[in-house]
Amino acid sequence: MLLLNASGCLDALTAPEVARQLDAFVTKTITPLPREGNAPPRIAETAHGMLNAIGLANPGRERFLAEQLPRLRELGVPLWVSVGGFCAADYADTCAALEDVAAIELNLSCPNVDEAADSAAEIVAACRSASDLPLFAKLSAAHPDVAAVARAVAAAGADGLSLINTLRGTALDRRLRPVLARGSGGLSGPALKPVALYAVSACHEATGLPIVGMGGVQTGRDALELVACGARHVALGTVLFADPGAPSRVRSELVAACADAGVADPDDAYGLAHGSSKSLESPARVTA
Ligand SMILES: Cc1cc2nc3c(=O)[nH]c(=O)nc-3n(C[C@H](O)[C@H](O)[C@H](O)COP(=O)(O)O)c2cc1C
Repeated sequence: MLLLNASGCLDALTAPEVARQLDAFVTKTITPLPREGNAPPRIAETAHGMLNAIGLANPGRERFLAEQLPRLRELGVPLWVSVGGFCAADYADTCAALEDVAAIELNLSCPNVDEAADSAAEIVAACRSASDLPLFAKLSAAHPDVAAVARAVAAAGADGLSLINTLRGTALDRRLRPVLARGSGGLSGPALKPVALYAVSACHEATGLPIVGMGGVQTGRDALELVACGARHVALGTVLFADPGAPSRVRSELVAACADAGVADPDDAYGLAHGSSKSLESPARVTA
């Protein structure tokens, strides 16, 4: 089991010591052109988690490749690059420009990108033609049948899945106006965990592909539950804002969580929630 960060939840260049606690670092989503993101306020705390409406702020592909990627390589941590866009060619062109990274995560949950199964599959197929690197398709659990999307992207050539992205939500201030300038944003944090457990289970059963599980992980036990549902790897998101030491803490908590659950280690728990331990020899092409 690899421990990663969730895209957009860690800036490795300003917090390299946090990134070095991870088995791989996942970048914020990169789009072909630079994006300022949405107007502030674009973060809101709620009683149930965090709402963000960052809007894919990023320096754009050319500056990322020329300035950020060389500095990220100096961290000595395997890199996963999160790729976004607004049509299949946007994604494919960025994939074609990437080399010498551990994996590419395709953010198929961008605003304005159609979540329909054929659209996600079309993007994956275009990226598959453009790159031999491991491709992980990041899906949203907001789709009414996430397992169908997972099957479609698997058939289009995805090597793995990342589950789940945020779910759209709204928070109101004291005067009953939306806190976020955009009105709504993506909900992350503890409230997502049951949704993530279900999505990972359903997509594991539907495809058997390696899955990076994420959504509300705060403890080693949370990570172990995702593995039991079929996640091969686990990513930490919102928890990193409150606790930059979370990767080391979660790793040490995993030992106690395994003992409590009666399994030797996280790999021993893989797929246990499905009633039988699945083969550990699935085609994970990514190693630390
Ligand atoms: C502030 C913030 C920024 C995010 N930016 C991205 C992003 O650029 N690309 C992406 O695929 N997911 C992004 N996400 C979603 C996370 O990667 C993750 O899927 C989600 O937050 C669920 O995990 P968590 O509950 O552990 O935070 C972002 C989440 C937050 C909170």
